[in-house]
Amino acid sequence: MTYEQTIKKYAPLLKDVTHIPQKEVEILLLFVLDKNPIWLHLNYKKECECEDILAKLVKKRATDFPLEYITKRASFYGESFEVRENVLIPRPETEILVEKAEAILKDISNSKVVEIGVGTGIISVMLAKLIPDIKIIAVDINDHALALASLNAKKFGVEDKITFIKSDLFTNVPNIKIDMCISNPPYIENSFKLPKNVTFEPSNALFGGVKGDELLKNIIKETSKREIRFLCCEMGFDQKNSLSGYLKNFNPKKVEFYKDYENLDRGFVAWF
Ligand SMILES: C[S@@+](CC[C@H](N)C(=O)[O-])C[C@H]1O[C@@H](n2cnc3c(N)ncnc32)[C@H](O)[C@@H]1O
Repeated sequence: MTYEQTIKKYAPLLKDVTHIPQKEVEILLLFVLDKNPIWLHLNYKKECECEDILAKLVKKRATDFPLEYITKRASFYGESFEVRENVLIPRPETEILVEKAEAILKDISNSKVVEIGVGTGIISVMLAKLIPDIKIIAVDINDHALALASLNAKKFGVEDKITFIKSDLFTNVPNIKIDMCISNPPYIENSFKLPKNVTFEPSNALFGGVKGDELLKNIIKETSKREIRFLCCEMGFDQKNSLSGYLKNFNPKKVEFYKDYENLDRGFVAWF
């Protein structure tokens, strides 16, 4: 069977888990072959000799197991990041958070940033790539996340700009002058029933407490206490009211909420 016929044979198995089944079989095939899409385009009519391995991966994906955990890659901000099980898969809307932070940091020389909940490292690594003289302290409670973020920092050559620390929120963050805190913390309410594909991701990267915004409130409080001037956070689409009310307790100079690509409230930037 040719590659083209093999892709057509396996695509229907993924029709219930993705709206792009053929494309996903192609991605899995390219992962197995370690080739790029141009190569596949030029070799569609050649004999496929890896059907057994491909079939196993397609069957795994058909259980709603995330594609990114199979290929160990996710694209973010036009770059390909390493991804591993036990660490949250990057979401496209987090690019907006990076843009908001970059807009502020580009005007601050020798900026110092703390990221709470680094995960794969997408936020810290992208900021380190975008801002020449930045220094970042990136923390997480998850050892797998810290190891993976460090791997991604090395992949993009920014490991000298980021210090990784195991820390529950700010607990182990040194009390030095910091310009910005940035975070995409867990913010889903504990009782929320996750879609099946998301259940494969670590729950401590997703659930933020009984209401969901508890960690965000802790981050706001500590940012204000440490006199950090800027706070950029992602949040749940229904948390704008409670967080704008809570932020008022800390007399911010300005707060701007922003929406995601689906026009849902998704985060805020606060100036203290
Ligand atoms: C929603 S994920 C975000 C990961 C990554 N920054 C991103 O945007 O894709 C939240 C991260 O916060 C970490 N986390 C959860 N609770 C934490 C805590 N109390 N202190 C530090 N990190 C925490 C999780 O392990 C997870 O990596």
